[in-house]
Amino acid sequence: MEHKTRTLSFRNCLLFFTFQVVVAFFLFSALFQVKHGNDQTEPIDVTSKPEEPAKIILLWTWPFGYTFPLNKCPSQFDGTGCFFTANRSLYSEAAAVVLHSRDVCSSRNQLPQAPRPPKQYWVWFTLESPSHNPNTAFMEKLINLTMSYRADSDIFTPYGWLERHDGKENFTMPAKTKLVAWVVSNWNPNSRRIKYYEELKPHLAVDIYGLQHLPLPRPKHIEILSQYKFYLAFENSIHEDYITEKLWHNALSSWALPVVLGPSRSNYERFLPPESFIHVDDFPTAKGLADYLNELDKDDNKYMQHFNWRKHLKPVAPESWNPHYCKVCKAIKDAPSYRTFPSITNWFK
Ligand SMILES: *[C@@H]1O[C@H](CO)[C@@H](O)[C@H](O)[C@H]1NC(C)=O
Ligand SMILES: *[C@@H]1O[C@H](CO)[C@@H](O)[C@H](O)[C@H]1NC(C)=O
Ligand SMILES: *[C@@H]1O[C@H](CO)[C@@H](O)[C@H](O)[C@H]1NC(C)=O
Repeated sequence: MEHKTRTLSFRNCLLFFTFQVVVAFFLFSALFQVKHGNDQTEPIDVTSKPEEPAKIILLWTWPFGYTFPLNKCPSQFDGTGCFFTANRSLYSEAAAVVLHSRDVCSSRNQLPQAPRPPKQYWVWFTLESPSHNPNTAFMEKLINLTMSYRADSDIFTPYGWLERHDGKENFTMPAKTKLVAWVVSNWNPNSRRIKYYEELKPHLAVDIYGLQHLPLPRPKHIEILSQYKFYLAFENSIHEDYITEKLWHNALSSWALPVVLGPSRSNYERFLPPESFIHVDDFPTAKGLADYLNELDKDDNKYMQHFNWRKHLKPVAPESWNPHYCKVCKAIKDAPSYRTFPSITNWFK
C-alpha cells in the first residue's frame, strides 16, 4: 500500500503542473480525445427547453485544457433543462460551477473571485487519485458537491462500468497471439507496481508499451492490445475505488484478461464479477501469479471461463469528458437546496 502524506505544498502543486502535464497529455490524449458522433447513445439536444430557463452549468476550466462539444448529453444522463458553458461571463447566473481540481489547485486565486450567488453549487471534480491531487486545503467549506471516481461522491464519475446487453451481441474474442501487455508511462522505481513488475519479470515475458518502450499509436491502441491474452492493469497509486482506464479501456475494451494491482479484491468486486479479473493478491508471490497465467495460456477452456460474464454484460468506458459533465445536470436538479461539503481533504485520501 502507498501511504503518501498529503501535505503537498503550494510549490509542489506548481511542480505538478510542469511535471504531470506531460503525463496527463499522453493519458488524456489517448483517452479523452474529442470524439464526434461516437457516443453510445443518441445525443439529445439539451439547449431547447420551453418553460423554465435552463440551469446554467459553468465549467470553470476545461479539464487540463481539453475542449469538447458541450450540450450533447447521452440520454441516459438526462441533460434536459441544463445549459453547459465554459463562458465565465455567465458566472453570476450559473446554477453550478464545476471546479476541476487540478486546474485550480495552485492557489485560491484560481477560484471564482466575484461574489458567490447564494443558490449556486460549487462542484469539486477530479478523476485523479489523492496522490495526484495536491493542495485541496483551501477548498475547505467552499464546496457543495463532490464529483469523482469515488463511489461515495455526490456525482459518481467512474472510468467505466458494466451494462446489461440482450445476449444477441456477438461473443467473439479477438485472435490472441501474444501473452502479456502492459502500458506504462511513469516509471517510478519506488512505486508498488514497478517493484511488483521486477518480481514478476524473471517468470513471465511482458511486452511493455509507452514512453521509452514499445510504441503504441493511439489509433491502433485497441488493435494492438487485443492481441494479448492478459493485460497488467496496475494502478499508479492505491486508493479506494481508484480503478482507471487501465482496466476499463486498455484491458476490457481489448478483451485482454486484466491482472489488477490496486485496491483490494473486494473493492474491485463492487464493480466487476469476481472471475472477470485476476488480482495480484490472489497469489502469495509474483511467481505464483506467473505460473497461473502460464497455466491459463495452455488451457483455453479455463481461460475462457474468465469471460463468461460477457454473455450478459458489456464494459463501457467513456472516451470523452463530456458524459462526466453531463451528470451534473441531474445531480443539481436532485440536490438539496442547501448542501455544504465539510472537508475535501479529510474525505479524499
Ligand atoms: C460570453 O458570454 C457573454 C455574455 O452572454 C457574451 O457577451 C460573450 O460573447 C460570450 N463569449 C464567448 C466567447 O462566447
Ligand atoms: C456476428 O458475427 C457474425 C460473423 O462474424 C456476423 O455475420 C454477424 O453480423 C454478427 N452479428 C452482430 C449482431 O454483430
Ligand atoms: C454551498 O456551500 C457554501 C459554503 O458552505 C454555502 O455558503 C452555500 O450556501 C452553499 N450553497 C448551496 C446551494 O448549498
